[in-house]
Amino acid sequence: MESTSPRVHGSIFFLLKKFVDQNLPAGTWARLNEGAGTSPESFEMTKNYPVRDINAIVDEASKLTGTPVNVLKEKFGEYLVPDLFLLYSSYLQPHWKTFEVLENTELVMHGAVRRLNSTANPPILNVTKVNDKLLMIDYFSHRKMGCLAVGIIKGIAWYYNESDTVTVTPATDPDAERVQIKVEFK
Ligand code: HEM
Repeated sequence: MESTSPRVHGSIFFLLKKFVDQNLPAGTWARLNEGAGTSPESFEMTKNYPVRDINAIVDEASKLTGTPVNVLKEKFGEYLVPDLFLLYSSYLQPHWKTFEVLENTELVMHGAVRRLNSTANPPILNVTKVNDKLLMIDYFSHRKMGCLAVGIIKGIAWYYNESDTVTVTPATDPDAERVQIKVEFK
């Protein structure tokens, strides 16, 4: 059942491995999987896996590095944006920047992911344009990956060289199933 055992797409595990391989010494991915009780070779791009596996791997990475779990999730979210954009580049309009990408994520990006990829099930994002300088994003997912969502938004701002002018703040508990995220533009 989705509510008791939510699953995360293999592409996210693949990118997590890439993140670990690029930022931590060789052999760390295997070590993290050993500690987490997961199998380092088993994550495939076309399947999905229990969210507890990704949480267990991130917990191990936190123990190893001393970096808090939520900081790691956010950093991973920032990191994965260029690869996600590459995978779904045909859906990104060339004139879009952070504001437009966020406005279109639910309908265009996550919509495309749902249509193209039967094993993926991205979270629901309700994006409200309060005005030209403020978006409120309502994240809803049983997977409770709000910190990753915050990181992805920051990563999008980095991608467009707008990190100086875009401020991302969770307005409610980022570990809950529903998270309100405030995105302000200078
Ligand atoms: C704009 C391009 C984007 C693409 C191509 C994209 C694609 C994806 C894909 C393929 C997944 C895996 C789904 C699964 O596990 O079944 C995913 C999950 C996720 N996406 Fe997106 N995404 C995009 C933007 C965003 C944005 C802007 C946010 C944040 C507000 C976001 C938040 C998340 C989170 C937190 C997850 C993890 C699963 C969950 O929490 O339920 N994504 N996305």
